[in-house]
Amino acid sequence: MRLDKYLTQCTELTRSRATAAIRQGRVRVNEKVIKSSSLKINELTDVVLLNGQSLTDKIGPRYFMLHKPEGYICANSDNEHAVVFELLSREINLDKLHTVGRLDIDTTGLILISDDGQWSHAITSPKHHQTKSYRVWLSEPLIEDAEQQVKNGIMLRDELHPTKPGTLERINDTEVILTISEGRYHQVKRMFAALGNRVVQLHRHSIGDVVLDSNLQEGEYRALTPQEVALLGKRS
Ligand code: URA
Repeated sequence: MRLDKYLTQCTELTRSRATAAIRQGRVRVNEKVIKSSSLKINELTDVVLLNGQSLTDKIGPRYFMLHKPEGYICANSDNEHAVVFELLSREINLDKLHTVGRLDIDTTGLILISDDGQWSHAITSPKHHQTKSYRVWLSEPLIEDAEQQVKNGIMLRDELHPTKPGTLERINDTEVILTISEGRYHQVKRMFAALGNRVVQLHRHSIGDVVLDSNLQEGEYRALTPQEVALLGKRS
């Protein structure tokens, strides 16, 4: 079978995207980069890699961290906005991946992406108390007892229960690090609104013990290490 046809059968690439991947040197057959789409391969004996990933193995489970830039939403597709999956340019079968929780369109920083639903659940489920740390820039100087209020739990507008105890570390009066263990809708922005303030910039720095890799520029991603996958998947 022709190499380009084989790629379209094993992945969701169209024929033209398969040809492009081959031309770009992203396809190896038996360890050799092949740039000819018409090469005939033997599906039973040849080992074909796309982006270093074997097409004959079952793909997944996959685990990534992405440094989310502003302007992207955490959805698989959208008619209006760019979606974070557009940034995973080296990956295939993007529709099988999901973001682990969400960040707002204007929030930057660490977002996890996977196709392992159970692992994601262990991170997002309130039962497992995974912490999330955010660097927050505020429009007004923070009130004096904000640390205590965050520790006690804050009653958000239109909610029945206060937030779980969090910690607030003051860098200066308009810049803080907030660590929380829940993921309510727009939680950070609403917590500061309840403190009479407004978030002007928000950046997620870490989830549990996993910190956004400082080598990743905005828009860049990498696979999680097995240690990171295990740290995040553990249940407390
Ligand atoms: N809380 C928010 O308000 N926005 C985010 O993007 C994440 C947490």
